[in-house]
Amino acid sequence: MLRGNIELWLAFITCAVIAAGYGFVVIWTQEIPAASEFFGHTLGIVGFILMLLTETLYSIRKRSRFAMGRMSTWLKFHIFMGLVGPFMVLLHSSWKFNGLAGATTLLTAIIVFSGFIGRYIFTRIPRTLDGMEVEGALSQEALKRARQMMSLWHAVHIPIGVALFLSAFVHMAGALYYATFLR
Ligand code: HEM
Ligand code: HEM
Repeated sequence: MLRGNIELWLAFITCAVIAAGYGFVVIWTQEIPAASEFFGHTLGIVGFILMLLTETLYSIRKRSRFAMGRMSTWLKFHIFMGLVGPFMVLLHSSWKFNGLAGATTLLTAIIVFSGFIGRYIFTRIPRTLDGMEVEGALSQEALKRARQMMSLWHAVHIPIGVALFLSAFVHMAGALYYATFLR
């Protein structure tokens, strides 16, 4: 059980450690870390870099002609970063969700939720460790349905990701201009 979901457990433990650090800062400073101050800002930047790696690395490996590491390991890594990054970005928000930044947070939550649905459908399709689908291990009808659901899921998940990064870039440009450089 632990082995099959190792990325979820590691993400959970990492988030708990980050939450403990955040709690320590709240107690130490007696206030919620502001998104534009050092700690909150760092959470936003590091979390965003992890999200960017989540968006790109797995896709690059999937399409690469050079087999660097197993696909299953890359997907585990994708899921780990896809949970820890959004968690850091959530702590960065300082629990205020106005305007575009709020919309970006909502899109982040949607993509994480959608990721869990995708992971569920993905595990329905039998594969080799390198991610290749295994024919004949499941009834053809069930396999066809799972494949259709997976491609429908991709058709929803990928545009949400694109919208999320577009709005994140606009948020960053606006926030840096108004809250950092103009201060
Ligand atoms: C997907 C990634 C990100 C999300 C979801 C996000 C979300 C948010 C949210 C919800 C706020 C609070 C807005 C409010 O006060 O109502 C905020 C503030 C802020 N964010 Fe982000 N953020 C992200 C990435 C970043 C990055 C990478 C940077 C820096 C390069 C950044 C810089 C800022 C700054 C400077 C503020 C403070 C704005 C102010 O005080 O008016 N954010 N962000
Ligand atoms: C910041 C958060 C995330 C972003 C930006 C993101 C983005 C993406 C993108 C762009 C793809 C398409 C890859 C491709 O086919 O080229 C993908 C696939 C996938 N993601 Fe995520 N994802 C995130 C979080 C998650 C989470 C939290 C999970 C699971 C709990 C997850 C599970 C999956 C699965 C199962 C696939 C399908 C893999 C495949 O068909 O080969 N993702 N994700």
